[in-house]
Amino acid sequence: MPFTIAVIVGSLRAGSFNRQLAEALIRLPAASGHEFTFADIGSLPLYNQDDDADQPQAAKALKSLVSASDGVLFLTPEYNRSMPGVLKNALDHGSRPYGESCWAGKPAGVMGTSLGKPGTAMAQQHLRNVLAYLDMPALCQPEVFVQWSDDLLTADGTVGEGSHDFLNGWMEAFLNLVEAHPAAK
Ligand code: FNR
Repeated sequence: MPFTIAVIVGSLRAGSFNRQLAEALIRLPAASGHEFTFADIGSLPLYNQDDDADQPQAAKALKSLVSASDGVLFLTPEYNRSMPGVLKNALDHGSRPYGESCWAGKPAGVMGTSLGKPGTAMAQQHLRNVLAYLDMPALCQPEVFVQWSDDLLTADGTVGEGSHDFLNGWMEAFLNLVEAHPAAK
C-alpha cells in the first residue's frame, strides 16, 4: 500500500547534508511507490502562543501537510548536542492550539547526520523525548547515526554502496512501522 510521508529536515542551510541524505533516502528501492513531501519549516516565524487563535499561514501549511500524511520522517542535524531550534520551533507550531496537534498518532522515523563522530546521537535522543510527549510512535531499531563523509552519497546524490543496504533496510523498517500504526487523516 502506498503511503504519504511528510519529510522534515531540521536544517535550513542551502547545502545541508541532512537535506542531501533525505533526498537520497527517498530514492532507495524500499521507498519506491510511496510519496514523500518536504515540509517548509524555514518560513515559520518563532512560535508565539498569542497567535494560537489565528496561526500563521506557514504553520497552517505545515499542519495540513502532516495531517494528510501517514507518517513523518525527521532528519535532524546536531546543534550543540541537541536538535536545532528551527526543528523544535516546527514541533511547537504543529502541537498547538492545545488539543489540535497535527503530530498525535503519526508514526515517526528519526535519522540524522553530522560532522561529529556521534552522528547526531544526542540530537536524536532529545528529539525522541519530544516525539514521545507528542504521542508519535517512533521507530526504535535500527538506529541510524551517520557521521557525514563525502563518500556517503554518490555524485548523482544516491546512497553509496557502503551504506545502501543498511539504509534501505531502515527505510523498510520505517514503512513497516507506518503500516502497523494507521494514523487518522
Ligand atoms: C554544529 N555542528 C555539530 N556537530 C555535531 O556533531 N555535534 C554538535 O553538537 C554540533 N553543534 C553545532 C552547532 C551549530 C550551531 C552548528 C552550526 C553546527 C556541526 C554540524 O554537524 C554541521 O554543521 C552539519 O553540517 C549540520 O547539518 P546540515 O546543515 O549540513 O544538515
